[in-house]
Amino acid sequence: MYRHIVVLTGAGISAESGIRTFRDQHGLWEEHHIEDVATPEGYQRDPLLVERFYNQRWEQLKSDEVAANAAHVALARLEAEFDGEFMLITQNVDDLHERGGSRKLIHMHGELVKGRCPRSRQTFLLREPFGPDNLCTCCIPPQRLRPHIVWFGEMPFGMDRIHDSLERCDLFIAIGTSGTVYPAAGFVDIANHHGAQTVEINLLPADRHSQFQWHLTGAAGALVPRLVETLLSGKSLC
Ligand code: APR
Repeated sequence: MYRHIVVLTGAGISAESGIRTFRDQHGLWEEHHIEDVATPEGYQRDPLLVERFYNQRWEQLKSDEVAANAAHVALARLEAEFDGEFMLITQNVDDLHERGGSRKLIHMHGELVKGRCPRSRQTFLLREPFGPDNLCTCCIPPQRLRPHIVWFGEMPFGMDRIHDSLERCDLFIAIGTSGTVYPAAGFVDIANHHGAQTVEINLLPADRHSQFQWHLTGAAGALVPRLVETLLSGKSLC
């Protein structure tokens, strides 16, 4: 039925894996000021504070209490079995999509498991926490690695490929995102403008709720596997 599916995920898809979201109750932005830990200015002002913020999240991600949930696994199945074009875009910086089996995805806000050389922009898989001794191996003198995270005011990754897919897809699904941060919050508008069907999966109506033609209200871990089953059976959603 569909030829080209684009899926956008947000923090809500990892909530059932124990990863804190940003804007729900007890979310990360209740305890940290965005300008202090998620902007280039904040990093310039106090690199140790920013490194501590990402080191804590990296340590939690590595702990064995955290695992991909049924929603991550279902999206990996969709990627493997859907016979049309498929793109997974995530705003999440965790690696739970990869642990769930996804192979082709765009981390538009970066990745918690990597550090980046501030001079060459080369990325390195983190082997130790960020700090004065965690240096790149691409420069002389070596540079202190920074989190490979897109901070507010920086350009997200993969935007050309994302725009191309949004303009050509016939189904756009947003899962577990509050729709508060652009450009991701505007993806539904591009999909609508190009005639795609648009579906939102969320616990609650999110900021761009009215822009979606169809809504599935509930937990991603329960709803996404059923949605994937429907899509792979060739049935239309709307
Ligand atoms: N199932 C489905 N949706 C859920 C679940 C769940 N189990 N748990 C929470 N949600 C929904 C919430 O209702 C909310 O709409 O997930 C959304 C999480 O919203 P945010 O915390 O704002 O996360 P996100 O939308 O990913 O934030 C976007 O903002 O701070 C920046 O860079 C950061 O990538 C992040 C971006």
